[in-house]
Amino acid sequence: MIYIKSIEDINNLRIGGKISANIMNNALKMVVPGVSTFEINEKIEKLMKKEGVVPWFKEIDNYPYATCISVNEAWIHGMPSKYKLKHGDIVSIDLGVKYGKYYIDHCWTVVATNSHSDNPMLDLNHDDSDIAKFLKVGVESLEKAISNFVEGLRVGDISSTMQQTVENAGYSVVREYTGHGVGIKAHEDPLIACYGTKGAGELLKNGMVFAIEVMYAIGNSKIVVGNDGWTVSTKDKKISGMFEHTVALTENGPEILTI
Ligand code: MF3
Ligand code: CO
Ligand code: CO
Repeated sequence: MIYIKSIEDINNLRIGGKISANIMNNALKMVVPGVSTFEINEKIEKLMKKEGVVPWFKEIDNYPYATCISVNEAWIHGMPSKYKLKHGDIVSIDLGVKYGKYYIDHCWTVVATNSHSDNPMLDLNHDDSDIAKFLKVGVESLEKAISNFVEGLRVGDISSTMQQTVENAGYSVVREYTGHGVGIKAHEDPLIACYGTKGAGELLKNGMVFAIEVMYAIGNSKIVVGNDGWTVSTKDKKISGMFEHTVALTENGPEILTI
């Protein structure tokens, strides 16, 4: 069953989404050489406390941290660790805040560097490297996917757009994990895969709120799960990225809440 959110629900998710965006912005600025992913997680936990939100990841199967931080070939569900970032590492920070009873889900990927701008989510624009191109395609895929989150289209329109953008650039999407409805619960119906068929799947309606997630890799899509039981990495050890926004479908179209 897909929950349709009320105006009040969406108002609350909007507030929580802004808090998530602020925390993300601060966290991404910490993605600098020499800092451990554990330290980034600690800082995020502190910011959540300060903002009066709760890390809901800890509600999932005894997961012990507020965030998943996935470096280079680690694709998703990376556990914060003592590993100190090196210049050029590709780092995804996935964080989930609960504002009151409302769940928000948000992930972004940046390169570890000493020279982040004030808004690291927009840092890619002046860089022609292969890695910058890879990350730009991820952002573009997310944006195009979100532009298909409109009344009358279907979940498959979101998924297939995401897939095409990634594959047209020569990259691959993950098969085993998906985006999802979000808001009242952390993971709601429907599943929103990173691949799909135009015109297929559930009909999109105003009041739906989705965590739309692009999970993609520069090589092929085979995965391995690490010994910690959580970290999902690319089998070919090539780099991967993940971009996720919580998005509400309102009368005015898709509204990105985590921005
Ligand atoms: N945030 C992840 C998602 O995008 C889920 C993390 S669950 C956890 O759906 F247990 F790993 F934290
Ligand atoms: Co997430
Ligand atoms: Co999610």
